Amino acid sequence: MKPDDPNQIVRYTPNERTNHWITAITFVLLALSGLALFHPSMFWLTGLFGGGQWTRILHPYIGVVMFVSFLLLAVRFWRHNYLDRDDVQWLKHIGDVLAKREDELPEVGRYNAGQKVLFFVMVACLIVLLASGVVIWRVYFGGMFSLGVIRFASVVHAFAAFVLIVGIIVHIYAAIWVKGSVRAMTRGTVSPGWARKHHAKWFRESVK
Ligand code: HEM
Repeated sequence: MKPDDPNQIVRYTPNERTNHWITAITFVLLALSGLALFHPSMFWLTGLFGGGQWTRILHPYIGVVMFVSFLLLAVRFWRHNYLDRDDVQWLKHIGDVLAKREDELPEVGRYNAGQKVLFFVMVACLIVLLASGVVIWRVYFGGMFSLGVIRFASVVHAFAAFVLIVGIIVHIYAAIWVKGSVRAMTRGTVSPGWARKHHAKWFRESVK
């Protein structure tokens, strides 16, 4: 795809961005409604969804939308997230990454090893959230599982949600920390300087 501005490089198509933002919006709704149901101290959040009953009704449906949306996103980006030898080196140099000594790091392709690891953490969390979420969706599946299984699934569901929420906080922090990344997902393009600095291998392939 050619960018509108010839000085920019296309990183995401409009379809990919729409897919990503549907996932992100549903994630925020799920985190807020899930936290509201998780602990009485956060029950006030149910006000955002029309009260306690509505929060309980809506949360699983929004969850299904997020799962389907993320599944499409994961299929689109799957092949870009395979880890290779350079990624292992990158992870070993995590100190240089945090100190922004990028000249000490192996060249990065479309995604760095941190993004790739987080991608598979997201995949694992989404699968566990769906599977455990079905078990605790009492209105449809309540009769199919014993109380012990439902209790266990509730704990697993909360744990996977915790990991995903922490993962997404890291994801958002990294997107803001690496200046020029957010516009990749808002406008779809990045500057050649950004691409050369953070994803040199991908940059060379893009300008071929
Ligand atoms: C809520 C606010 C969010 C913001 C501000 C945000 C921001 C971004 C940005 C800027 C990128 C582009 C990074 C790059 O091209 O190097 C990106 C990529 C991506 N985002 Fe998000 N994101 C958010 C939520 C989410 C959620 C909730 C998910 C999934 C559960 C998600 C999954 C992804 C995936 C899979 C990629 C592609 C990276 C890869 O495949 O490794 N994002 N995001």
